[in-house]
Amino acid sequence: MTKTRDEAWKSLALHPDPTLNELFAQDPGRVDMLSSRLELGEMGIRFDWSKTHLTDSLLTDFEALADASDFDTMRARLFAGEVVNPTENRAAEHSALRGVGQEASVEEADALRERMKLLVEAIHAGALGEVNHLIHVGIGGSALGPALAVDALGRDDPKVDVHVVSNIDGVALEEAFEACDPATTLIAVASKTFTTIETMTNAQSALKWLADAGVDDPTGRVIALTAAPEKAVEWGVDETRILPFAQSVGGRYSLWSSIGFPIAISIGWEMFKQMLNGAARVDEHFRDTAGRDNLPLRAAFSDLYYLRLRGCQTRAVFAYDERLRLFPDYLQQLEMESNGKSVTVDGEPSGPTAPITWGGVGTDAQHAVFQLLHQGTHLVPIDFIASIEPGDLLDSAHHHILLMNCFAQGAALMAGKQSDDPHRNYPGDRPSATILVDDLDAATFGALVAFHEHRVFAAAVMLDINPFDQFGVELGKEMANKIEAGGETFDASTEALLKDAGLSNN
Ligand code: F6P
Repeated sequence: MTKTRDEAWKSLALHPDPTLNELFAQDPGRVDMLSSRLELGEMGIRFDWSKTHLTDSLLTDFEALADASDFDTMRARLFAGEVVNPTENRAAEHSALRGVGQEASVEEADALRERMKLLVEAIHAGALGEVNHLIHVGIGGSALGPALAVDALGRDDPKVDVHVVSNIDGVALEEAFEACDPATTLIAVASKTFTTIETMTNAQSALKWLADAGVDDPTGRVIALTAAPEKAVEWGVDETRILPFAQSVGGRYSLWSSIGFPIAISIGWEMFKQMLNGAARVDEHFRDTAGRDNLPLRAAFSDLYYLRLRGCQTRAVFAYDERLRLFPDYLQQLEMESNGKSVTVDGEPSGPTAPITWGGVGTDAQHAVFQLLHQGTHLVPIDFIASIEPGDLLDSAHHHILLMNCFAQGAALMAGKQSDDPHRNYPGDRPSATILVDDLDAATFGALVAFHEHRVFAAAVMLDINPFDQFGVELGKEMANKIEAGGETFDASTEALLKDAGLSNN
């Protein structure tokens, strides 16, 4: 008989806690059970979860939790373009942008993508004159994905030099101005709503910069990327330079839509398409694979194990690849804005949800934060991400040292080392997962990102929360508007700060 959610959690809580060393000693087939490759044409990705505490029986109980959570139905609804974001009455159709989803949505996405392709290729062919730079203004999901992808894939001989500016702090925009020649710069204004104050203010300042430099028709240098094309028209952008996307694409899931324009401008259309294809391969795997063999679902089992059964409040991600240095920033929004909730879909208290995501790059992080990971009092599950092929052309010693360190850290965290001297004792039994890609090409990159999107969704389903809304970000915006409007008194601390900064209206 199918268990209820509560029963599934209760039986999960009854499991013993053998150490990782014990688990490896007990089961010679452990690596085969928990480490699998996803093939992506000529390339592939190994997902090795064997250094986590997952066991055959835990996997069985997590499969029961997924069943109790109607995971198969929820997943089918996601891909069918049904409402999976009930608080906003919306579907979440990022996979349709990659060609996997409801037929009508896939067709609509194909048509919009074709339009974007024409503009990208026209720009590359010189239809808008000489274009050497693109300043992309956007924030949150309208910036983090593009910034990550351009940084990861657009390093070697980019077709156009792209600068992603998100912060309202003018220092960020000034830095981009310094690096660009106004005569050969386009401005992409990326905002799903086309109302976000930081983006619209940065866009205005970018236009002024063009005008001050004597560029004719600065608005004619703007490309708008938005789900609110009517607002972009009102703002003054010509319809031929507006690239729309569907309302059913969430901000933090939007790099596959026209929000990915700077990516295509930097790496070219072919590579952009490969990125989508890599993501589509993961969509198909996630849609069609049952239970523990489903890689994002298996990763979510492990995430929930550490969250709910070991009480871990954070999880860390270390990319042993300089090209992925922005990956932790990107994941922070994806995971924390999606699953940082405290009520269930029905509005009841949820219990613990998304851990805090943090991380950095290896090997830098080893010389900064790994002390705590090896000997501190927090248990932090870690993901390591690395590529077998190097991203550089220097002496191969660089890449060997990088990879050896990555693998050594996972091994050392798990094995530990006993010593009579407490200061030199390493407790070990500290879990990690390793994602090892053959090569960080565009398809692999797309697959890596889509894997994390589905992992977040799978965790949300089992936690019974809605990963697709983000009401938590609204109150601060509301308060900022009230401060701006004036006439209201705030708490004494805020009033004192406003007064010091000369912003008080009272
Ligand atoms: O403040 C949060 C948020 O709504 C994110 O979810 C979103 O990615 C970001 O702001 C930017 O929104 P927009 O694309 O509408 O400018």
